[in-house]
Amino acid sequence: MFRIESKIDLKSKEYTGNRSQFLKVLSEYRTLLQQVMHGAPPKAIERHKQRGKLLARERIDLLLDPNTPFLELSPMAAYGEYGNQFPSAGIITGIGVIEGKEALIIANDATIKGGTYVKETIKKHVRAQQIAMDNHLPCVYMVDSGGIFLPEQAKVFADRFHFGRFFYNQARLSAMGVPQIACVMGFCTAGGAYVPAMSDETIIVKEQGTIYIGGPPLVKAATGEVVTPEELGGAYVHTAISGVADHLAENDRHAIQICRNIFQTLEKKEQQVLNTVPIEEPYYDPEELYGIAPIDFKKPVDSREIIARIVDGSRFQEFKARYAPTLITGFAYIMGYPVGILANNGVLFSESSLKGAHFIELCTSRKIPILFLQNITGFIVGKQYEHGGIAKDGAKFVHAVANADVPKFTVVFGGSFGAGNYAMAGRGYDPRLLFMWPNSRISVMGGEQASHVLIQVKEEQLKAQGKEMDPEEREKLRAEILKKYDEEGSPYFSTSRLWDDGIIDPVDTRKYIAMGIAASLNCKYPETKYGVFRM
Ligand code: COA
Repeated sequence: MFRIESKIDLKSKEYTGNRSQFLKVLSEYRTLLQQVMHGAPPKAIERHKQRGKLLARERIDLLLDPNTPFLELSPMAAYGEYGNQFPSAGIITGIGVIEGKEALIIANDATIKGGTYVKETIKKHVRAQQIAMDNHLPCVYMVDSGGIFLPEQAKVFADRFHFGRFFYNQARLSAMGVPQIACVMGFCTAGGAYVPAMSDETIIVKEQGTIYIGGPPLVKAATGEVVTPEELGGAYVHTAISGVADHLAENDRHAIQICRNIFQTLEKKEQQVLNTVPIEEPYYDPEELYGIAPIDFKKPVDSREIIARIVDGSRFQEFKARYAPTLITGFAYIMGYPVGILANNGVLFSESSLKGAHFIELCTSRKIPILFLQNITGFIVGKQYEHGGIAKDGAKFVHAVANADVPKFTVVFGGSFGAGNYAMAGRGYDPRLLFMWPNSRISVMGGEQASHVLIQVKEEQLKAQGKEMDPEEREKLRAEILKKYDEEGSPYFSTSRLWDDGIIDPVDTRKYIAMGIAASLNCKYPETKYGVFRM
């Protein structure tokens, strides 16, 4: 493979100016992330420790093999909501390695409102289980939760992907042969009791873990029976009398060790094999991405410059380099894993859509994972293009993306607007992982465009009534729309709602994608079957 020849002048005003602006954006992201990571009330942390418990992230650290990375998912979930009283939505999820096997970890953070579940907590838990399903990753549930956050019950209980989905997923995962292990390190009350009960194997910590369908207050109200939590559903009860749990642990550390021992017994499954090569760092320093990543979306960025700083040796086997230049396609390696890349280099035309669909067919027929690098304002508009069938060509691209059954990964490195989001494997297209850079933006269209459309619609309405919009009102409406789009297009707005799996530092992109590919190897890639392409 040939090395990409970078045309960036590291001394240019453009590069250095972009870099200094980007570093501000990055520093804001780091500050917010640190705030979230340390967002639990100090009193709650102190109380938790006094009880002899480890914090959720400490538990995960001990569970994972030493010196192996933890790919934490959506750490900024629920950011900006509930007066920021649910940092990380009160739950830590991610992919890590236990006894040499990749696993999906779901750990309640009991220092955040007793580890209770709001809408985002539920979404994060279900999303993590979906990742386990896609990649056949054994799950470890580190349970320490008061269940549903009761004031929010209407948003978390009854719908398809609400609380009940956890147990459905556990049953389905277990049936798929994906091990389900629960480590009860605190309360799991009411519906929460099903997490350990639905697991293949369950550990419970002495004098800390409790499992019951109804807690002591409910029992008293219902039957008049007075009982302590420990008598009702503590570790002794469940390991000696009820059989709801299988292993009694002395404390958190002991429980974690038992969990690691269980992993030693898990079957090694048949893996997908990729033609890997020795890992090579990019020839161009990934830190240079700070000077290249789009800050001013009006200035075009050659996405080859981005690719050059993500892939091994900055080498790229470009496909159809001379055709449809607004979509860059080609093969590369990321940390030794082969990957097909589609990267935006402008608006999508009919020919770029055909090129994209063709390239996806290459990736699926060769069973090579696909990386989508999104910086897209959408498909081309206008009479000429509609007559040329942009809708049917765009549809071919979208069809290919939707049906491509190799692992897809999406990184939004700039804008993600309109149907371009769909064609480039947005959230609705089930990429195995989707990350945003801190400079990125995501909305149905840009604020400026939305204000033009909405003002025009309003003006047409008024015109039909024989009226006119006065300029002041127009300006007010415009300002309101711009403000709304500015707020809602932010990556923080997206990540808070789990439209993505997290905001990442551009420099880490190759690590995240490589971990995603490594996780995907836990099951064979299926054969891709396409439907009817409109010709
Ligand atoms: N809904 C709403 N808020 C809850 C809650 C719930 N289910 N469980 C706990 N909280 C809140 C508390 O009000 C408290 O809020 P504050 O910090 O604003 O005062 C915070 O979470 C911590 O709770 P606290 O009881 O002080 O902490 P703890 O560590 O001693 O106990 C629990 C935690 C979860 C064991 C305990 O609060 C409890 O038993 N909750 C009820 C559990 C339940 O019956 N759930 C059924 C729902 S399915």
